[in-house]
Amino acid sequence: MRTPLSEHLQGQVHEDKLISTQDGLKKFYIESYGCQMNFSDSEIVASILKQADFSPTKAMDEADLILINTCSIREKAEETVRKRLRVFGKTKENNPGALIGVLGCMAERLKTKLLEEEKLVDIVVGPDAYRDLPTLIGNASDGERGVNVFLSREETYADISPVRLDSNGVTAFISIMRGCDNMCSFCVVPFTRGRERSRDPFTIVAEASDLFERGYREVTLLGQNVDSYKWANENTDEKVTFATLLRMVAGVHPLLRVRFSTSHPKDITDDVLYAMKEYDNICNYIHLPVQSGNSRILKLMNRTYDRNWYQAKVNRIYELVPGCAISSDIIAGFCSETDLEHQDTLSMIEWARYSMSYMFMYSERPGTLAAKKYEDDVDISVKKRRLQEIINLQNQVSFEHNQRDIGCLCEVLIEGDSKRSEQHFRGRNSQNKMVVFKKQAGLKPGEYVTVRIEDCTSATLLGSIESSP
Ligand code: 5AD
Ligand code: SF4
Repeated sequence: MRTPLSEHLQGQVHEDKLISTQDGLKKFYIESYGCQMNFSDSEIVASILKQADFSPTKAMDEADLILINTCSIREKAEETVRKRLRVFGKTKENNPGALIGVLGCMAERLKTKLLEEEKLVDIVVGPDAYRDLPTLIGNASDGERGVNVFLSREETYADISPVRLDSNGVTAFISIMRGCDNMCSFCVVPFTRGRERSRDPFTIVAEASDLFERGYREVTLLGQNVDSYKWANENTDEKVTFATLLRMVAGVHPLLRVRFSTSHPKDITDDVLYAMKEYDNICNYIHLPVQSGNSRILKLMNRTYDRNWYQAKVNRIYELVPGCAISSDIIAGFCSETDLEHQDTLSMIEWARYSMSYMFMYSERPGTLAAKKYEDDVDISVKKRRLQEIINLQNQVSFEHNQRDIGCLCEVLIEGDSKRSEQHFRGRNSQNKMVVFKKQAGLKPGEYVTVRIEDCTSATLLGSIESSP
């Protein structure tokens, strides 16, 4: 599964392999790891490479260029990338002419060190330097290994029309901003993705319209912190906030669903919630990472809110957008966290009634505020136990959340066949819950159906079609 921004980031590694090949062109192969933003970036990379006469291939062994778009969020993510590089090395033994490139957050974090540490790597390119790829590839073909990890204050790739990779033709992600100006003490992202900048809203609306015309029916607006999106026209007084942008995209067509991720609790405004109320096609779902339920730990994490403040925000969401599902990111075993403080995280999961969460053990990242200021002193066995308790409780809360939907009708956008059975479709409801139901003749992905929910697991709703278009 791919996660919304936080890595739905998170936790899982997603492999993205490109579709189709065209004869005669040089071929590239790309794998992506980490958050949805990285997957979205790979689609920008694919577009830049297409312009440079490369065509995508799903077969690594026939590629002239092998790319890996990397994540640095936890140590494990980086270990996975190193393992994949070993595999690429084996492929290169049979195809010595192939070039190997490392893109994304790990490229940015390690810079030239990557070339020293990984002798097989030919190019290292950070998240803001993808336009330089054709030049770096050209140089590498001439034997000159290269690095570009320049972080920009302006680059948003606004003019680049992403080549959709591995697409279901129904749902797509649109990057609306880049970078992050928050300084959560645990997080490497501000160092790997640079300063926050917002993309021209008119290019975002144009991309959404184009997707709609091509049959897509859902877009997810992506940013590390979408609620701090802001754009101002240099020549006029025109200003666009995230709430305005949501309304603009929702206005593309009533049949185009709009989602967004990730929201920082400190930045999400009432105006965003009003926009959700006004437009039926803005989905009733907010990913609102809490990270910890304890105020002392939240302060050490530099999240800028405490438990009460977060709870007031959740109450406001449920008040203004009844039926909204809220999900979270949670870190177990942050520096100096006690068992009692961990209990506060558990009680928050129950209190907030999260529909789901992405849950992690704290992993110290070099260069972050926490690495500099605090000791990573929670024993690994304690971290593991706390994480397991968090997962067990969230599973139970998710199950109860889903049970409350039994008997209800919900509108589902069909995304494709169920993973388990060709006789069943799968799609999502407004609350971002996966719904599986028996197919009916004539229906196809991209269409909306009304489904009566009859059963559930902690991860899926099961039902049958009540009515179709
Ligand atoms: N250790 C563990 N989890 C982390 N996250 C970010 N940095 C770390 C870290 N150092 C988690 C946070 C964030 C999500 C994308 O990843 O929960 O919201
Ligand atoms: Fe995404 Fe980079 Fe953060 Fe990984 S480190 S989750 S790729 S922004």
